[in-house]
Amino acid sequence: MIILTGASSGIGRATARELASRGHRLVLAARRAGELTALARELDPSGSRVIAVPTDVTEDASRRALIGAARAHFGRVDVLINNAGVTVERGWWWDDPDPLRVLRVNLEAPIELTRLVLPEMRARGEGHIVNIGSVAGRVPFNGMYSASKFGLRGFSQALRREVLGTGVRVSLVSPGFVRSEMTRAARLPMPGPEVIARAVVDVLDRPRREVIAPGAYRLLVFLDSVLPGVMDRLVPPVFRRRYAHRRK
Ligand SMILES: NC(=O)c1ccc[n+]([C@@H]2O[C@H](COP(=O)([O-])OP(=O)(O)OC[C@H]3O[C@@H](n4cnc5c(N)ncnc54)[C@H](OP(=O)(O)O)[C@@H]3O)[C@@H](O)[C@H]2O)c1
Repeated sequence: MIILTGASSGIGRATARELASRGHRLVLAARRAGELTALARELDPSGSRVIAVPTDVTEDASRRALIGAARAHFGRVDVLINNAGVTVERGWWWDDPDPLRVLRVNLEAPIELTRLVLPEMRARGEGHIVNIGSVAGRVPFNGMYSASKFGLRGFSQALRREVLGTGVRVSLVSPGFVRSEMTRAARLPMPGPEVIARAVVDVLDRPRREVIAPGAYRLLVFLDSVLPGVMDRLVPPVFRRRYAHRRK
């Protein structure tokens, strides 16, 4: 059984559809109960293979209730996909009244959820943690968002080494821009979230240290590592288009 956070929209919803079409049993988590329940019913009208558990991943009690509901319904957790994420949408992060919520959703929640399922996975000698990072965890731009995604990448890759040989796998999927609620204001050419859903499904079959999708973003990552000074000039105009509504 797979727990998928952030399933109520965008990449999470597309991933839920892709996983359900392949017969996986799913526990869908996000705050918007209406969207989540409607999706679960659409994917599995019987309610036996796909269930919705409204969850706020920033709250400890809510995280525990999610894992408890998943175990109660399916017995055990085989895969945890940490996909729920937010960014500072409007303005600069330093003007936001609570910029650290980005760290709580994108970094603290995946760590705490991992902490809740890891003992069971290690004891069984199998399991898979899949974290949804971002190209922003490689090519920095929005300070708070990049801090969270650099952190998640570090956490993923360190954990992968820490549990090597235990049977527990850890994968990181790092998307570039795709269409979702998060990017709805962006004036950039973007594929749909299905491209990331397929990358997630692929890592379930073949766990990977990191997958960057769409693949074209690998060039951006490479350029930022070898020519950061050039990227200092190229990145800001692109992100002004991403945050077109942001004050200049
Ligand atoms: N779209 C892109 O271009 C892009 C690029 C790189 C990485 N990513 C990453 O991909 C992941 C999915 O984002 P998306 O693009 O699909 O954006 P999205 O459509 O805005 O989806 C974000 C999801 O996270 C959930 N969420 C947010 N806060 C939550 C909380 N406190 N508790 C539980 N769930 C919460 C939302 O559900 P509720 O509001 O119902 O809680 C929603 O289902 C994120 O980690 C994002 O950083 C996206």
